[in-house]
Amino acid sequence: MPDLETLVSLCKRRGFIFPSSEIYGGIGGFWDYGPLGVELKRNIKEAWWRAVVQERDDMVGLDAAIIMHPRTWEASGHVQSFIEPLVECLVCKHRFRADEVGERCPECGGRLTEARMFNTMFKTYVGPVEEEAAVAYLRPETAQGIFVNFKNILNTTRRKLPFGVAQIGKAFRNEITPGKFIFRSREFEQMEIEYFVKPGTDEQWHRYWVEERRRWYVRLGLREENLRFYEYPPEELAHYAKATVDIQYRFPWGWAELEGIANRTDFDLRRHSEYSGEALTYFDEETGTHYFPYVIEPSAGVDRSLLAFLLDAYSEEPDKEGVRVVLKLHKALAPIKVAVLPLSRKEPLVQVAKEVWALLRPHFTTAYDDAQSIGRRYRRQDEIGTPYCVTIDFQTLEDRAVTIRDRDTMQQERVPIADLVAALCDRLKVV
Ligand code: GAP
Repeated sequence: MPDLETLVSLCKRRGFIFPSSEIYGGIGGFWDYGPLGVELKRNIKEAWWRAVVQERDDMVGLDAAIIMHPRTWEASGHVQSFIEPLVECLVCKHRFRADEVGERCPECGGRLTEARMFNTMFKTYVGPVEEEAAVAYLRPETAQGIFVNFKNILNTTRRKLPFGVAQIGKAFRNEITPGKFIFRSREFEQMEIEYFVKPGTDEQWHRYWVEERRRWYVRLGLREENLRFYEYPPEELAHYAKATVDIQYRFPWGWAELEGIANRTDFDLRRHSEYSGEALTYFDEETGTHYFPYVIEPSAGVDRSLLAFLLDAYSEEPDKEGVRVVLKLHKALAPIKVAVLPLSRKEPLVQVAKEVWALLRPHFTTAYDDAQSIGRRYRRQDEIGTPYCVTIDFQTLEDRAVTIRDRDTMQQERVPIADLVAALCDRLKVV
């Protein structure tokens, strides 16, 4: 596995991730996804949606607003409990989370202030008047959008327990110490499921989802030895949780949370019922009773999993020119699926290459590269994880065939242009 600096530099150099508003010096805890990063991110979200919504018979989706009624956050407990202890160095003015430092400033050794509690929700104002009545928050988790829509979803889909609601979207936290690249940022994306179950079956469903989510990461290429579970002791549990298991990944700085799977009990539905006056209960036809379902919540970070997928895929292999850097990303995740490489910039070869490129574009994300030697171009594609390169050479002009080169085996195979789309679909397992 590379160190974090190596990966950060590759991400910047190749257009995966840039510091946000870099021309103004950047802004701490915010990142922009470049041309390759945006494709990778879309592919991760697509793979998640496919696994947890499309392929299942017990899930539906939702896309709720980022800004919600401010009462939401009183009911959810975030106004009261989404707080962290903040200390400041009296000398250099750096700020830290009190639970991450000792008695002295880790930057300069100066004395620290007493800890004060700091709510990490971002505040904003709705409407033109900046008055207290109009204060709203950028959501710190997507989950609440699902809870407040529980009745709407039940009424419109007539689902029976157990069933789940999935949502992907931005979340915001004014983290005191963002860092470790995109691992902890102030604006990030979550992929969350709220899975509603009959009380009493919650512990079994909790175990089910922990394993189901682990399998998803492994299926998409993360090495099993880089994943482990961490079960929270009671004193570490969030205010809403009865039990939480994290899926941790072995990041370059150590094991850290990739995804949290919590048993939120009926906390949220009960609280929103109290605060809104709407009964967010479920009518069980079998027993003829109304009750609050329990909720199992697998909550994943898009950015964190993107970082894990990149780290896990990164490999350096010795070759005759020194070192070949390859991102062995799962093909479903690779930002570019096929690169088109003409052996020369001369006509009529270029015209054929452009035809091949146009043939592929409706089916795959592609790149066209005609700069420098073919060996250099293969290396460039390896470094961004492109599974297949298609080379157009002088022979192509005679036999209307091209060479497909495989990223991992470096094997090359000649295929007629007429069969190229099918041959690549087959290799990429795209239907
Ligand atoms: N709804 C539950 C919830 O939000 P969480 O453990 O606070 O639980 C879930 O967050 C996931 O969101 C984390 O496992 C992580 O992947 C991602 N996440 C949380 N805070 C983050 C941050 N500051 N930057 C990037 N990702 C973050």
